[in-house]
Amino acid sequence: MSLTLAQKIIKTHLLSGEMTPGSDIGLKIDQTLTQDATGTMAYLEFEAMGVPRVKTERSVAYIDHNTLQTGFENADDHRYIQTVAKKHGIYFSRPGNGICHQVHLERFGIPGKTLIGSDSHTPTGGGIGMLAMGAGGLDVAVAMGSGEYYITMPKMLRINLTGKLSPWVSAKDIILEVLRILSVKGGVGKIVEYGGNGIATLSVPERATITNMGAELGATTSIFPSDEVTLSFLKAQGREKDWVELKPDSDAKYDETIEINLSELKPMAACPHSPDAVKTVDEIGSIKVDQVCIGSCTNSSYRDMMRIASILKGKTVHPDVSLAIAPGSKQVYNMLAQNGALADLISAGARILECACGPCIGMGQSPNSGGISLRTFNRNFEGRSGTADGQIYLVSPETAAASAIYGVLTNPQTLGEEAPIEQPEKFLINDNMIVPPADEKEATDVEVLRGPNIKEVPTTTALPQDITAKALLKVGDNITTDHIMPAGAKILPYRSNIPYLSNFCFGVCDKEFPERCREYGKGIVVGGSNYGQGSSREHAVLVPLYLGIKAVVAKSFARIHCANLANAGILPLVFKNEKDYDGIDQMDELELPDIRATVENGGTVTVKNLTKGTSFEADAVLSDRQRKIVLAGGLLSYIKEQNK
Ligand code: F3S
Repeated sequence: MSLTLAQKIIKTHLLSGEMTPGSDIGLKIDQTLTQDATGTMAYLEFEAMGVPRVKTERSVAYIDHNTLQTGFENADDHRYIQTVAKKHGIYFSRPGNGICHQVHLERFGIPGKTLIGSDSHTPTGGGIGMLAMGAGGLDVAVAMGSGEYYITMPKMLRINLTGKLSPWVSAKDIILEVLRILSVKGGVGKIVEYGGNGIATLSVPERATITNMGAELGATTSIFPSDEVTLSFLKAQGREKDWVELKPDSDAKYDETIEINLSELKPMAACPHSPDAVKTVDEIGSIKVDQVCIGSCTNSSYRDMMRIASILKGKTVHPDVSLAIAPGSKQVYNMLAQNGALADLISAGARILECACGPCIGMGQSPNSGGISLRTFNRNFEGRSGTADGQIYLVSPETAAASAIYGVLTNPQTLGEEAPIEQPEKFLINDNMIVPPADEKEATDVEVLRGPNIKEVPTTTALPQDITAKALLKVGDNITTDHIMPAGAKILPYRSNIPYLSNFCFGVCDKEFPERCREYGKGIVVGGSNYGQGSSREHAVLVPLYLGIKAVVAKSFARIHCANLANAGILPLVFKNEKDYDGIDQMDELELPDIRATVENGGTVTVKNLTKGTSFEADAVLSDRQRKIVLAGGLLSYIKEQNK
């Protein structure tokens, strides 16, 4: 049988299930990564499993999100992660070494391997030919402890890239075009595979920009073949031995194919507040800009930084614009320092930030009230920047740098001739900020250090026979994990402190929600379509769990969030008839009779609305394995039951 590239990797890693779309499959996981905002919880969960050493080929703990260290909380988390990593066989990438996905691509990514990460942009690794997926922290903990990960077999979507990008048009514009075509829901249940003769013109970091933002399509992952371009990147990283050639069979069958002619693309921008609200820069026009931020795991490679340095060289940032730049890794930063490009950025008036997520996760650089901020990042959800009415446009580094000079949104094609940026023959390789784990013998003596910010993981009990609870919150479509559990400098340091975080749950939608939960002790959330889109943040389920949420009934769910709900022991239900959503009001009393038996048998639940005297049908969106997980009261309880 002829196979797509992703199917080939799945086949060699298949532990259970059939490779037909919609089937539950178990995959052997070769590598894992965590970042600190989700990692603390993932390692607490890993510890709760009682496995002494990770079972993966390579696991890496990165510190890149909470690097401001405004109080002891971040430092406590970093120290905890460093010691837990050392003890259990995990590499530790120190704060300052860079953003997880950029560093992983440079130093650890291997074509043909499977990777899961507790960060939704883990598909960045698809740029180097990995099957790389974002997952909840608990799934990553389980993968570290068992080497296994379970998903629903996705459909295959092929995107054929033909032609060659015009000057000043770059990889970011390609993925913005894909988002324009497919929308933030267009990739759900699919793996996006890139092919066509246009891919040979794209370097690994450019490919990674595209696979990175495949997360915004809702796709399971995105992947490029591993070819000569991949080999030259790995050679330049001193890792050519990691290269293998990988491509789909020439007669591989795809469920869907999209054609994009690179030569026809223009500079694009995603308008506030959704990554798929895409227009060309010319269509939007010369709007005044207050801030420009360049960096994030989408656009912070050496190539991106050299491109903006070439634009800013000899120029001055517009007096009304604040330009902040965060190189993606110490490798990139160091190379810019050595070749003089950093001096060009500083001289132009850029504010150089640490190589970390920074403004992308709302850690500093919030724009002024109502301010327009152009960002090379991947998300522009309302409030994510830290300014509730900030207007965030997602653009390429080229558009960002040109606009920083002129103070208005500027099409970089007006800049004149574009100088080529070549991949260096050798990147600067210095792994002195990556701490290897202790060997097995020494590991027993390593003490895991826990400061007062490290609290317990909330858990629940086995699913009861019946649930009766009020609909404590009713929200609309496209609720993101940022709505459920906001990020930002004031909250992010408390990611290992669920009781404290619970004060902010759904704060953007309804500030009274946590208080209502405390008053009633238990509740149900009613959601619209694409509920839980955005990040892999399992705090967006752990905090509602802590507040007593037993079930979420929605029109549809985002993949990772749905899996996270099941892992936490919260029941995800979808309306059989979406119109029934309209028949529920917030604070209605809902009854889920015989829910345990229904989940056990995989049937439909008849939910009674006791307040209105009506009823409606809903289905539990659970795989067979997830049914067992929810029945057990979450993945940790399930694993413990299995290990008995
Ligand atoms: Fe960090 Fe933003 Fe990427 S938070 S991992 S740079 S999406």
